[in-house]
Formats: sequence, C-alpha cells, structure tokens
Amino acid sequence: MKTSNINKFYELSREDRIKALQEFADLNGEDIALLKNTGAIDFNIIDHMIENAVSVFPLPLGIATNFLINGKDKLIPMAIEETSVVAAASHAAKIAREKGGFRAVSGPQHMIGQIQLTNVLSPNNAKIKIYEHKEDLIKIAAEKDQLLKKLGGGPVDIDVRILDKNMLVVHIIVNTLDAMGANTVNTMAEAIAPVISDIAGGKINLKIISNLAVYRLVRAYATFSKDKLPRGGYSGEEVVDRIIDAYKFAYADPFRCATHNKGIMNGISAVVIATGNDFRAIEAGAHAYASYTGSYKPLTSYEKDGEGNLVGSIELPMAVGVVGGAVSVHPVAKLCKKILDVKTAAELQGVIASVGLAQNFAALYALTTEGIQKGHMRLHARNIAVSVGAIGDEIDIIAKRITSENNITMPRAKEILEELHKKRD
Ligand code: MEV
Repeated sequence: MKTSNINKFYELSREDRIKALQEFADLNGEDIALLKNTGAIDFNIIDHMIENAVSVFPLPLGIATNFLINGKDKLIPMAIEETSVVAAASHAAKIAREKGGFRAVSGPQHMIGQIQLTNVLSPNNAKIKIYEHKEDLIKIAAEKDQLLKKLGGGPVDIDVRILDKNMLVVHIIVNTLDAMGANTVNTMAEAIAPVISDIAGGKINLKIISNLAVYRLVRAYATFSKDKLPRGGYSGEEVVDRIIDAYKFAYADPFRCATHNKGIMNGISAVVIATGNDFRAIEAGAHAYASYTGSYKPLTSYEKDGEGNLVGSIELPMAVGVVGGAVSVHPVAKLCKKILDVKTAAELQGVIASVGLAQNFAALYALTTEGIQKGHMRLHARNIAVSVGAIGDEIDIIAKRITSENNITMPRAKEILEELHKKRD
C-alpha cells in the first residue's frame, strides 16, 4: 500500500529519499538521473538549505543588457521561466539610457517586527506605558544581535497601535543594514514580547516580522525620449499619451492594476530570485503597499516632462539583502551578486526597482502599440519547437516557419519536424 506517511524522511540519506520517492511515484531510470543532476550546485549546499531535499529546480538565468543605473552600467541576471521578459527589460533599458538611464534612491533599511497583545484591559493606558519603556525595550532587543549593533544597526524605535477594543500591536523598528533581516527582527520581537506583556498586561500572541516594509522603500525613475517611441503607426507623442492613459487605466481599475503590477513583478522577482532573496516577501510587500491607501494602485506612475518625453517612476518596499541567508550560501546567487557588482542592500534595491520600471514600461509600450503577442509569440515559437522535440538547427527552422505562417502551434510545429526528419532519412 502506498503511503506518504514516511517516518523520519529527513533522516534518510539522499539515496534513500530518492529510493522512497521512486517507489512512491513509480519513477524510471531517466527520472532518477534527472533528480541526481544538481548542475552548478553541490547537493550538500541544498541539503542544508531546506529539509527533505532531493534535488534542485533549475530556472533559466538570462542577462538583461543596456542598463545604466545611477550612472553605472549594469548587466542584470534574471531568473525566470517566462519568454520575452529579459528581452523586454533590455529593450526598455536601451531607450532609457538615451536620457541618462535610471536614477534610484533607497531610504533607511528599517524593518518592522510586530508583537500582538490580546486581552488588554485598558489599551490607551497600555499604549502610553509601552512608550514610557521604549528605551528599555530597544536596549533588550539590541542585545540580541551583537554584530548588527557593532556595525551600527539594530532597533531604532518602538511604535504602538490599538487595533481593536482589547488588542494592541507593538512595532519594533530595526535597522537591518545590508541584510534582509527577518531572523534578526523575529528574534528581537520574541525577546521583548514578555517584557511588553509585563508592562501592559494582556496576553502575547504573534511575534513576527511584517512584510509590509514601509520604512524600507526604494524609488526609481527614468525618462523615455518621445523621439525613440514611434511604433505601430503611432507617433512618439501619441505613444507617450497612450502609455499615460494605460497608467490611468491601472490607477482606476483593480482588474487592470493586478496585471500592470504583475508585469512589474516579472522583472522584480526575476532579480530577487537570481540574487537569492525571498521573492515571496517582496511580492507580499509590493501588493500590500499597492493597497496601502485602501484601494489597489499601480506601483509605477507616468507623466510628461517639459519636452513631452515620458517620465516613469516606481516606489515600493524592498526588503532584500546582500549578506545573510541564501544570498551568502547559494553559489549562483553569489555569482549573480558579483555580476551585478552590488555591495550594499541599497544598491541592489536600486537595481531591482529599475528593472521593475523597465519591465512595466516595456509591457505598456508593447500593449499600447503593436500588442503584446507579436513579440511574445515570435520568441515563444522557439519554445514550441523545443516542446515538440526539435533539436539543434531544427529549432530555428521550425520557429521561423511557424512564425511566418502565423501558425505558432504545436501541431504545426510537429508536422514541420516530421517533414524535416523525413527529408533527412
Ligand atoms: C505578462 O507576464 C505581463 C503583462 O501582462 C503586463 C501588463 O499587462 O502590463 C504583459
């Protein structure tokens, strides 16, 4: 009888884990060979990163070109499975560099840890008492990370909010410097929680970081010259107006806004993943920030400069680090950091925000002119060719034919592949 209730799977050797998996899922020799191939990463590293590890899941890693960020040329590693994202970012960056590229600014690296207090008898009074002991709480929290303290980081402030009749939340604000900081913040939140309940009464419940990192924002902007924008029969001025209208659409409608922001995250998540950062934290923070005013809004905005060029801006929380966690362990993430040549969290944030803006501009540029499918399908044709079994130069031949026939489908690709095979035999 098959069961997923495998006792102490984590204690099994990798061989035995794979054996158990093979029996359970009826895997063949080819499947096992695929699982055993971890490519650029030693299995020991993976085994220490997550529990019950058996293999890796490789994503394509592409390099976006043409980026000029705060006056520095950058090649940007992007880990993503979606066709056209890397090409689109590179194209947008090429247009942006004509007008000086991207300028990015990061604020302080302050994260929020939350401590929930329930059953508080007199929350207004409790709130003031907690503020009265602010310095003590900061001191206790600071002791929890000596290295951060030595480097000039650590807890900087305490904030108290009354959420409900008998519920309070205390925020501990921590400068995590160049680390993402989740572990540090959680440890500090746990350390001060019992002290808070001694001061304010009530029961401690959650003690955890907030991914809505509103004190760790990154902002970037770029100018896209109207002279570079004529396309699909539209003049540069028309394209500028159409992109601004597209932005207004996202601003007015959550259905469009979700897709607008998804396009931004295509770029952002790809760099966040490539640099070994926590992409779920970034996604959660981005969408929560987009809703911060009470309705869901775009993370970018567009306006005209005095000459009628398009100026795009982006603003969102960016809790990423360049030290600690997977960033310092994963060999490919370390390599990507080296390619990016970023030494601080602020620099990395600037890169990520610029890519998000480039990605969004590229999507809007395509959508407002020739539509997204033309370019996308052109690139997708190669995927289709590979998926029907084409190899080597067959891929190009098939991709070109199905594109020129305007029939980018698997059945047609298969037909052409069969033709090619027949000719060869
Ligand atoms: C596709 O991954 C992303 C887009 O849908 C973004 C957008 O519509 O703005 C093209």
